[in-house]
Amino acid sequence: MNLAMPLPRIENRLRKNPAKERDQLLQGLLQPQARINPKYFYDDCGCEIFTRICELDEYYPTRTEEAVFQAYASDIAQRLPEHAQWIDLGCGDCAKSRRWMEELAPRRLIGVDIAAEFLKLSLADVAAVHPRVECVGVVSDFTQQLDIAGLLAERPHCPPIFFYPGSSIGNFARPDALQLLQAIRSHCGADGRLLIGVDLVKARTVLEAAYDDAQGVTAEFNLNVLNVVNRELDGNFRLEDFRHQAVFDSRHSRIEMRLVARNDLVVKLGNNRRAFQQGEHILTEYSHKYTPEGFSALLEEAGFNRPECWTDDRGWFGVFLAGPA
Ligand code: AVI
Repeated sequence: MNLAMPLPRIENRLRKNPAKERDQLLQGLLQPQARINPKYFYDDCGCEIFTRICELDEYYPTRTEEAVFQAYASDIAQRLPEHAQWIDLGCGDCAKSRRWMEELAPRRLIGVDIAAEFLKLSLADVAAVHPRVECVGVVSDFTQQLDIAGLLAERPHCPPIFFYPGSSIGNFARPDALQLLQAIRSHCGADGRLLIGVDLVKARTVLEAAYDDAQGVTAEFNLNVLNVVNRELDGNFRLEDFRHQAVFDSRHSRIEMRLVARNDLVVKLGNNRRAFQQGEHILTEYSHKYTPEGFSALLEEAGFNRPECWTDDRGWFGVFLAGPA
């Protein structure tokens, strides 16, 4: 980071209600079908394990999406408006946006992420390399509320391009995915775009291996969420009491990640108790896999036009570009 550069502007839109969030987490665990929201995967340890997942032989999405962008970046860029405001949803270190700062040279980069300090540093890094791009950070949980209309209105002649790579849309139940796409659509105006990466349906063996790798890294990732729950709810989950499971549910076209109780047990969660029978599971994540037609239909339902789609040679991963209908 170049310390002589002014730090990017950061707007904090995070409306935290820790008591409510803890209660939602507890209620999820007390349901007949226990569940944990996958957002709890990503404590510092979970983020580090997720980085290792992305490098696994079995976990093809990250490198396949990168290959699609690598092959088609200039084709895609030709279809994007100039002088844009590039909005990276869940930008992290902004690594995936960097190519587009060169390829497209947008007027502005708006990085949206929940982690304020990291966002500041990531944007400062981009600003140092691309001094012509105005870098702005928004600290927010955009999956709850996409609160950037005022920010976009500051540059009325710069169309928004929403960038949502990594197939994170797959982690939403279909109605929630539709709601998020509708929220993005409502910010697109007449000439905005959405560029989104989506994992596609393929053989069950490939899918299940991607979520249950031979080295056990995904198992470690899944089990780590119990450490997070213990911290959040003063719980006493023992990781060795559960085993990781990843199953492709073809009816809903999704991987379900689960933690299966190895024996009958009772877990303390603050002042509450939750009994598990041997074989009972906690649902920790959905990862939906779409067909190109199915995802196009979802985009259309959200108010976008019929998108263009680029895939790799095997048709494993799709990059969709849509504008307003
Ligand atoms: C973040 N998300 C797109 C990943 C996925 O593939 O659904 C999360 C993940 N879970 C296990 N491995 C990766």
